[in-house]
Amino acid sequence: MVDATTAQRAAELRRLIDYHNHRYYVLDQPEIADAEYDRLMRELLEIERAHPELVTPDSPTQRVGAQPLSAFGPVRHGIAMLSLDNVFDEAGLAEFDRRLRERLGVEEVVYVAEPKLDGSSLNLRYENGLLVQAGTRGDGVTGEDVTANVRTMQTVPLRLRGSGWPALVEVRGEVVIRKADFEELNRRRLEAGERLNAQRLNAGEPTFANPRNAAAGSLRQLDPRITASRPLSFFPYGLGAQSGAVAATHWETLERLAEWGFRLSEQRQRVRGLEAMRGYVERMLTQRDELPFEIDGVVYKVDDLAAREALGFTSRAPRWAVAYKLPAMEATTRVRGIIASVGRTGVITPVADLEPVAVGGVIVSRATLHNLDEVRRKDVRVGDTVLVRRAGDVIPEITAVVPEKRPADALPWEMPASCPVCGAEVMRVEGEAAHRCLGGLYCPAQRVGALLHFASRKAMDIEGLGDKLVEQLVEYDLVKNVADLYRLERKELLTLERMGEKSTDKLLAAIERSKDTTLPRLIYALGISQVGQVTAAQLARHFGDLAPLMEASEEELTAVPDVGPVVARAIAHFFGQPHNREVIEQLQAVGVRWPPVERPAVDSAIAGKTFVLTGTLASMTRDEAGARIEALGGKVSSSVSKKTGDVVAGEAAGSKLERAQALGVTVLDEAAFLALLEQ
Ligand code: IVH
Repeated sequence: MVDATTAQRAAELRRLIDYHNHRYYVLDQPEIADAEYDRLMRELLEIERAHPELVTPDSPTQRVGAQPLSAFGPVRHGIAMLSLDNVFDEAGLAEFDRRLRERLGVEEVVYVAEPKLDGSSLNLRYENGLLVQAGTRGDGVTGEDVTANVRTMQTVPLRLRGSGWPALVEVRGEVVIRKADFEELNRRRLEAGERLNAQRLNAGEPTFANPRNAAAGSLRQLDPRITASRPLSFFPYGLGAQSGAVAATHWETLERLAEWGFRLSEQRQRVRGLEAMRGYVERMLTQRDELPFEIDGVVYKVDDLAAREALGFTSRAPRWAVAYKLPAMEATTRVRGIIASVGRTGVITPVADLEPVAVGGVIVSRATLHNLDEVRRKDVRVGDTVLVRRAGDVIPEITAVVPEKRPADALPWEMPASCPVCGAEVMRVEGEAAHRCLGGLYCPAQRVGALLHFASRKAMDIEGLGDKLVEQLVEYDLVKNVADLYRLERKELLTLERMGEKSTDKLLAAIERSKDTTLPRLIYALGISQVGQVTAAQLARHFGDLAPLMEASEEELTAVPDVGPVVARAIAHFFGQPHNREVIEQLQAVGVRWPPVERPAVDSAIAGKTFVLTGTLASMTRDEAGARIEALGGKVSSSVSKKTGDVVAGEAAGSKLERAQALGVTVLDEAAFLALLEQ
């Protein structure tokens, strides 16, 4: 038996959670923190677990996702889900408005204008305010029963809020996914797909071509838990079957829907007459890229429901509405070439050079291919016919290749071996998707980036050398590489924007000051890929000066603490570029100087040698002794072998001392060891 208070609390929790869901998902105005919300949800889940008889079909816990289905049952729509007639230009719109004015015998028609959301249409059936069935449009007459999936969507009320709804009412609208969520979903699917491919499992086509497919695909998952994990939103645009009247106009109907707990598209607007209709298209066109959801047009609907009645339907669409189609965000075109484009940091990005094509009203002639893996994955080749998509204001992307149209001689694209801008070697860093030009100090494409990094606070610390100035220096060719900074003349600087006498002198002084630097700063300032401040400091300590570092082999470099083979390779290849070496020579020629770094002398008695510690030392613990050896560049081992340098034997040394003597390894007592440390 459930006591009355528990039942009351469950009801209260359902109401509270529902209230906060609505604030969060529909109104975008959350009132409580996520943690507080989770607490309410947990409390309700616990009560329901203890008392399953308290679970109601509209409980917020019932959204989580039921058992997978084996197929979707059919749903017959009592009132067919029609489509809309399209117009593509202002003439079409004017013709539509003229026709309606004539038929209705009025001077001016009032319309409701709405964005035409590009998703998947859905019919929600409510009986006595309770969601009983959700069906896809299907062929308009029969759709699929996706109730279990739709119950997981937070923007679909399981029970209508407020009052005044008819005993039976069908709410129709569009299921969409945000552009940003679509990108994120694809990114996750791509990663998951790559994991599966790496395991040689066939992952199939992992990404969705566009937000519409993502929404439709997510809605038609046999496992509702998958739908639950997808950020789908529902926006109503009208009613289907209804057992009683709701409002006299479409605008009021939408207001009722908001009261019942639905989220409406903010762009809806009442417009009067053709001029206002045109204005609405204009506004939507300019806002389109910034809208969170993809739209493929705008819809105009006669507001007055009695007038709609009078106008009626054709066999496929209502006479009282029209869709003004906006230019598609997708188009096909041909790949003229694939360019290796070198960015500021030396990363080389393959970019498709396209035959210019209009996509969503913008002419597109370039699409990024991100990196070599992406080119391979999509298998884009020069000469291919491809599908190009533009999502909002982001850079256009190639979403697919049309294989039937590939020229017979099209070859897979290769990353160039040398930088197309400066000719330096191109290297792919292991574990990174990107290829990089190694001519960091010299490559014209990297000038701005290299100069900014060189001048930054933790590098050469040249105060006053910011973005705007560096861009000007490069643009006017005053500086080609970092050494040129030290050759800048006062009169040249004075010609630049925002450079007065005072700022010029300050800058020249800062440049001059930076000549006296330290080796770690200089190494870091060179901007070698993979070499941050910590590694720069390690390299300085290990090599003591720049010259030996420049000559070090990959093998020698890996002896430096924290330098693995990947980093060693990047360093060796950087110094392997003759142009980089020239710039370093120039730096020295213009007077950049640094004191050599105190380092454990390689020929000292400790550096490079392995010690074994045994017995008890009087002046320090064995750990302390070990730390001092390592600080001086030596190593500590726990077992004695022929390769052991010295054995340090303290009081009560045991078997290790015996073994050392047997192998003829030098044995030091504590005094001799201390003397060695002092050296
Ligand atoms: S009204 C009987 N309004 O476009 C009229 N439809 O081509 C029913 N759509 O299947 C449609 N946004 O999936 C209407 N604001 C909107 C819409 C919209 C998107 C979709 C809907 C419909 C298709 C019609």
